[in-house]
Amino acid sequence: MISKEVKADLKKGSWVRQMFDRGAELKKQSGEDKVLDFSLGNPSIEPPQEFFNGIKELLDEAGKGKHRYMPNAGFSNIRAAVANQMQKVHNLEFSDKHVVMTVGAGGGLNISLKSILNPLDVVVVLAPFFMEYEFYVKNHGCMIRKVDTNEEFMPDLEALEAAMSDKVRAVLVNSPNNPSGAVYSQEVMNGIGDVLKRAEKKYNRTIYLVSDEPYSKILYDLAEHGSVFKAHVNSIIVSSHSKDFGLAGERIGYVVVNPEIKNGEELIDAIIFCNRTLGFVNAPALIQRILPRLYASKDSTADYSPLKELACNILREANYEFIKPKGTFYIFPKSPLANDLEFVDLAFKNNVLLVPGTGFGRSGYFRMSFAVEEDTLLKAKDVLKNLADQAAGG
Ligand SMILES: Cc1ncc(COP(=O)(O)O)c(C=O)c1O
Repeated sequence: MISKEVKADLKKGSWVRQMFDRGAELKKQSGEDKVLDFSLGNPSIEPPQEFFNGIKELLDEAGKGKHRYMPNAGFSNIRAAVANQMQKVHNLEFSDKHVVMTVGAGGGLNISLKSILNPLDVVVVLAPFFMEYEFYVKNHGCMIRKVDTNEEFMPDLEALEAAMSDKVRAVLVNSPNNPSGAVYSQEVMNGIGDVLKRAEKKYNRTIYLVSDEPYSKILYDLAEHGSVFKAHVNSIIVSSHSKDFGLAGERIGYVVVNPEIKNGEELIDAIIFCNRTLGFVNAPALIQRILPRLYASKDSTADYSPLKELACNILREANYEFIKPKGTFYIFPKSPLANDLEFVDLAFKNNVLLVPGTGFGRSGYFRMSFAVEEDTLLKAKDVLKNLADQAAGG
């Protein structure tokens, strides 16, 4: 006997997870090297060399107590190092007091949501969106309201304004966006901020702008990633080093609260409390301690641009319609079949794993991750062309 809600959610499942399970079965049947897997958001670029060298040095460092509990917010010197990174980007006064170290962005999102939501509150998300959001929000007895973005995957500010109500407590944005690869400029962020400010006035309540940005360093073609802190004072950034440093399995992330927020101390206290009481307790000690070295080394951030170019060229030559990603390691092309589930199924039958747009709240598209080996992309060239031709009835 398990929770009814979890039972229902398990059935609903996640498309990425489903593709993972079906893909694992297919790999068993056809052989690992015969399956071209573009379904995962798992970094394919290894962490920087500084990570491997630094971890060895940290392990060899003398002194006791390096692996024990610490304050629930994390080591204060590491929080200060994150604050220093923030300072460079957002041009505001940050200190360790504005930062909480977390178990990835997933942990950071859950403790932030737990800290600000009351039962039955609404969190607005912009579709297409990372599908775990729905479950994260439900964890705290609340629900999401989905607002579609436009054809370029940019926020539709009128639709966002129309979605505001006296139940909305937060708008959760994700730029660079998984799955679309869209990046919001400062102007776009400001537009969202203005909608929130008007709604706060109208409904006389605080409405947070929560920015989930684990891909903020994975940008292409000089894309401008706007600051939520400049757009709206009631704002929180959640991020991690799962993607930029390739440390997804090491579970290291952070939450940063806008230094100018009213009652910011209370909010930080709540976030630290929730880090403890949701059972995360603190972010992993060793991986916290490696961060200053990675920040100091200038080529720590993984460069996916050659893979992005290759993936775009392959899709373009095969006549797929798509917007070139400005960030992340995903492309979100239009499905050549009107029904994206059917197209993804057709791809599956040809040993190619993709994720249907339906799973991200935007049907008619599919997500292709180019966080793969170059060879996997090269091998996929003909089969992707073939799939497009089959879909076109050729
Ligand atoms: C948009 C988005 N947010 C959050 C996460 C979770 O990241 P983390 O591994 O840091 O928990 C992911 C992971 O794929 C993601 O794509």
